Amino acid sequence: MQTLPTPSNSVPQTALSYTLEEWRSGYRSQPHEFSYWIENIEGEIPQTLTGTLFRNGPGLLDIGGYPLRHPFDGDGMISRIAFQNGRAHYCNRFVRTAGYVAEQATGKPIYRGVFGTQKPGGWLANAFDLRLKNIANTHVVYWGDKLLALWEAAEPHRLDPHSLDTLGLDNLEGVLQPGEAFAAHPRIDPGNAEAGRSPRLVNFGVKAGLSSTITLYEFEPTGQLVHKTQHTIPGFAFLHDFAITPHYAIFFQNPVSFNPLPYVLGFKGAAECIRFNPKQPTQIIVIPRSGNNPVQIFDAPACFVFHHANAFEENGQLVVDSIGYQDFPSLDEGMSYQEVDFSTIPEGQLWRFILDFKTQWVDAQCVIPRCCEFPTQHPQTVGRPYRYLYSGAAHAPLGNAPLQAILKHDFHTGQSQVWSAAPHGFASEPVFVPHPEGTAEDDGWLLSVFYDGSRQSSEVVILDARDLTTGPIARLKLRHHIPYGLHGSFVDTYFGPEMHS
Ligand code: CO
Repeated sequence: MQTLPTPSNSVPQTALSYTLEEWRSGYRSQPHEFSYWIENIEGEIPQTLTGTLFRNGPGLLDIGGYPLRHPFDGDGMISRIAFQNGRAHYCNRFVRTAGYVAEQATGKPIYRGVFGTQKPGGWLANAFDLRLKNIANTHVVYWGDKLLALWEAAEPHRLDPHSLDTLGLDNLEGVLQPGEAFAAHPRIDPGNAEAGRSPRLVNFGVKAGLSSTITLYEFEPTGQLVHKTQHTIPGFAFLHDFAITPHYAIFFQNPVSFNPLPYVLGFKGAAECIRFNPKQPTQIIVIPRSGNNPVQIFDAPACFVFHHANAFEENGQLVVDSIGYQDFPSLDEGMSYQEVDFSTIPEGQLWRFILDFKTQWVDAQCVIPRCCEFPTQHPQTVGRPYRYLYSGAAHAPLGNAPLQAILKHDFHTGQSQVWSAAPHGFASEPVFVPHPEGTAEDDGWLLSVFYDGSRQSSEVVILDARDLTTGPIARLKLRHHIPYGLHGSFVDTYFGPEMHS
């Protein structure tokens, strides 16, 4: 059995491209809500860039001064950057989840967090409190005329895209039961206009236990459910993301076990009870999106995967590109995430897994050894062979470090380009926006929110995806910071306020 290479923390450390202090300062709560035209701009916003970038992520890193154990436990805050006529408007609002409203009213934590945040009062105060706080902090998508803030363990919250008001939990026209899991990583199958197939939003929900149930959903652009199937797989499944092709939905079951006891007894968060078993294979679960063909399970080298970049079918094989970690990246007991030593935890690297249906063999190769996360691509290439991948990346070519750069990889030439904002800039997920008249796969813009440690504020960076080395087309400097975010999406519609010239 192949294994992923040894961690690169043996790489000799030259001077770091960042200071921990500046990196850490991006993890401050942002309790304020803003709405303003962005005026401090370096460069120019393209006149042809029209639409709205929605971002989600934890807006609070504390509740009433009580620090969270992990940023992933932070209440979801939506940022909206609306572009039109060369101008941009910024607005942010917290998702008014039941937990956020109750905790802001009392000024203290009422819920435990999945990633280890405990209520004050020690284990006694936390034991047997297994309620989940749906914090709506992971992703935000616009589908079926609805803006939805997603959190993988429960149903979405719906927001008004114009005001960002929270409209409440949304069960997708009765598709979801109260509290039913709906993943934070839908994939949008672009469909095929020539073949008369419309785009679809494909997503899943997991019920994990001794065995796990995956429910697959497919929605038409109207928001109507057109396909739903359920599949039971052996073992505890930790599934954050998946990949699709026209015929398959692909999941990586990480080789982990879950011992719920410390969680139930109030000592740890649920996610802190996950253990990585490097001697077991990662299981790749391939589920047909339609028809009665059986689910296939392939054994791959042990690795941990949160995010997939893309997948496609080619010559009787299935190709899956994913960010693989040598181990489950977790903190040592009692250590604060703010004190993390990046060199002691494994970095994510881009791996290509090639699954052969005939031989059931999986070939795994590291394509991008540079530390990278939050992969993305042109939306028309989802599930199809593609040439270009984009992601957040570290400044240095090897070793684990915060994301400070945006990377473009060309699978045809095998070359990568990087634009780095080191030493003061810290990157987030890039979103690719196709140029409205573009035909080439890389004809478009990359939008990414950076945190600038020297200004202690954030900026929206616009890069020309055709060539990152020329640097940003525009840097939109915000008046404040946005804590490091998770995922987001771009919608062609302008949802900002009315424009007055
Ligand atoms: Co994610």
